[in-house]
Amino acid sequence: MAELDAERTPGGAVLMDGNRLRDELVAELRHRIADLGNPHVCLATVLVGDDKPSQIYIRNKRKKAEEAGMVSRHVELGAEASQAEVEEAVRDLAGDPDVHGILVQLPLPDGLDAEPVLDLIPPEKDVDGLTERSMGRLVRGRDGHVPCTPLGVMRLMERYGVETSGKKAVVIGRSTLVGLPQVLLLGRKGCDATPVLAHSRSGDLAALCRDADIIVAAVGVAGLVTADFVKPGAAVLDVGISRTADGIQGDVDFDAVESIAGAITPMPGGTGPMTIGCLMENTFNAARMLGALPG
Ligand code: GUN
Repeated sequence: MAELDAERTPGGAVLMDGNRLRDELVAELRHRIADLGNPHVCLATVLVGDDKPSQIYIRNKRKKAEEAGMVSRHVELGAEASQAEVEEAVRDLAGDPDVHGILVQLPLPDGLDAEPVLDLIPPEKDVDGLTERSMGRLVRGRDGHVPCTPLGVMRLMERYGVETSGKKAVVIGRSTLVGLPQVLLLGRKGCDATPVLAHSRSGDLAALCRDADIIVAAVGVAGLVTADFVKPGAAVLDVGISRTADGIQGDVDFDAVESIAGAITPMPGGTGPMTIGCLMENTFNAARMLGALPG
């Protein structure tokens, strides 16, 4: 493997630093937008209700959009907003030629149905990659936006020299947001890993994972991935977030695993920031798809 410009953990694993890669991505986009003469590139975010973590995610997304040289438009509706009001807000953004990317922060408050809301987002503006049309494009191998969290996992592996071709990968968790698209990305041409989708009924998870060169943990069970899950030298990427009495914890027991793994993401500071970095990448691509960029 070529010498990497990367920190290592005390046990010697490559630390896949998501904050750093996100900052590199945002800086690169800022330069690309400046080189194009600062065209108007706009990300619209929609937040419904007063969920605290969602407010923080949205604040970070807006801040990074501005750092990338984009315009951040924001629509906020109270927890008592009706389904029709949320749909009207998204319909307006979908029809607005000055908006290139639309992100509806999930989950919506109880009583609101996200599916008809997401259905209103045209695929070109679906920078979250979560609508059924974007997912369909991913399955069919057509151009479209890829969900940001699994895309961020792929970018971390590329940046930190994790080999994927012919490698065994286990993805733990079958969510629409992460696990399902992650399996498609790992298995598609160009990446060429052999992914297994593991979940709560998979039986001996540790044995499944011990056979893998790459583990992506995205299930939301704090500390699930322990030393006996990890083959020496494997890449371990932690997507899980659990809010526990001891603070925010990932799915991976970092301290137990870092001396066995060949590469590992920290938590926080690993896959989370990359979700935002990839949202910026998708928004830039959305502006290009919509003909908003010169050249
Ligand atoms: N909630 C948690 N993660 C995400 C995400 O990536 N996109 C959206 N829209 N909502 C989320």
